[in-house]
This record gives sequence, C-alpha cells and structure tokens, in this order.
Amino acid sequence: MSNSPVRLGVLISGSGSNLQAIIDNCETGIIPAQVAVVISSRGDAYGLERAKNHKVPAIHIAREEFLDDAAYNHAILEKLQEYGVELVIMAGYMRLLGKEILDAYHNRVMNIHPALLPSFAGAHGIKDALDYGVKVTGVTVHFANEVYDEGPIILQEAVPIQEGDTEDTLAERIHALEHVIYPKAIKLYCEGKLKIEGKKVRITVSDTEHFIDQQI
Ligand code: GRF
Repeated sequence: MSNSPVRLGVLISGSGSNLQAIIDNCETGIIPAQVAVVISSRGDAYGLERAKNHKVPAIHIAREEFLDDAAYNHAILEKLQEYGVELVIMAGYMRLLGKEILDAYHNRVMNIHPALLPSFAGAHGIKDALDYGVKVTGVTVHFANEVYDEGPIILQEAVPIQEGDTEDTLAERIHALEHVIYPKAIKLYCEGKLKIEGKKVRITVSDTEHFIDQQI
C-alpha cells in the first residue's frame, strides 16, 4: 500500500456518530486515512452536518430522484469514483448496497452491525438481542457482500447484557464500543493487515496500537 492516506467514502442515513469517530481518528492520524466524501440517503441526516463541520464534502443523494435502485446505486458509485474513494464505509446506511458498487469495490466495503453476527442480523439488532433474552450481544465489523449482514467478519467484540437493561441503556454501551472497533478495523485495513480468505478475514499482526480512549 502507498503512504498517502487511504481515501474513505462514508455512507450514512442518520446521526453519524460512527462517522464522527472515524473522522476524529483520521484527523489525529491514528487511522492513516481521510474521509474524502460523505454520502447520505437522507437529507436530514445529522451526519451531513458533522461532515460539514470538518470540511468534508457532504452529499445527499435521494432515492426518489431516480427511476430504480440500479440508477440510484449508479449515482452513488459515480460520486465515490469522482472523489477517488478507495474504501467504502457503511456507517448506519439503511439501504442494501447495489451489485454495481460491490463489484467496483470488491472486498473494499465495510459495514458495522450492532450485534454479534450471524445472530440478530437486520435493522433492529439491539432490540432483537434484548427481546430474545441473550446474556451477551456485541458489535460486528464485516466486509459487505450482496447478502445483508453476511460478509466476512473482520472484528467482533462482546457486550454483556445487564439486569434491567433497556434498549437505550444497551444501545449506549453498544455505540460506545462501535466507536472504538470501527476505527480499529479501518486502521487495520489501511495498514494492509487484513487478508480475506473465503469467508475468513485473517489479521496479520497483533492489535497493539493505540486508539482514542473511549469509555465503554
Ligand atoms: C449503528 O448502531 C450501526 O451499528 C448501525 O447503524 C447505527 C448507526 O449509528 N448499522 P450512527 O449513525 O453512526 O450514529
């Protein structure tokens, strides 16, 4: 890999707290990358403001403006390419990514999920784990493929469910962990330390680097 920062394209639909953690880790030089563009499927996503606050190009691309999903995904792909994006980061992006993007960015699209995949895939990972009554849930960072929440797993960490947890209290701990492990996974990628072998992702070094301290 070259020494210039890896250009990230972050796809969002909402608050963008993971985007914020990624921007912070890029700005401090902890991740050797820069957020080249943020694309949101929603115009009111707070993540767009976060991007602007850091002078990162922030673009809303509305599905309604396109005839079909293929045209919509094509428009996103064009923007990613226009901004020279090398790694696509899905951070709370609430749509399935089109095949065209996945092909163009084969093994270069990451997603984060608020549960221990393959358990509790789908849009309500935190609530589903709580409702099921599991004692441990967690966070998964994985490469995205054409099946929702199914691609090769990069990192996972557990979050014990506590007596009396509500969706809010559990979500708070899950999100705090997300903000640590997503930057960590991106850093590993940018340093060329991830090797995909079929469904498995091999990490070629021990994880001894420092990340922005977060209370988990
Ligand atoms: C996170 O919980 C992430 O796991 C899920 O969507 C949420 C996005 O939150 N995919 P934010 O927009 O980064 O705050």
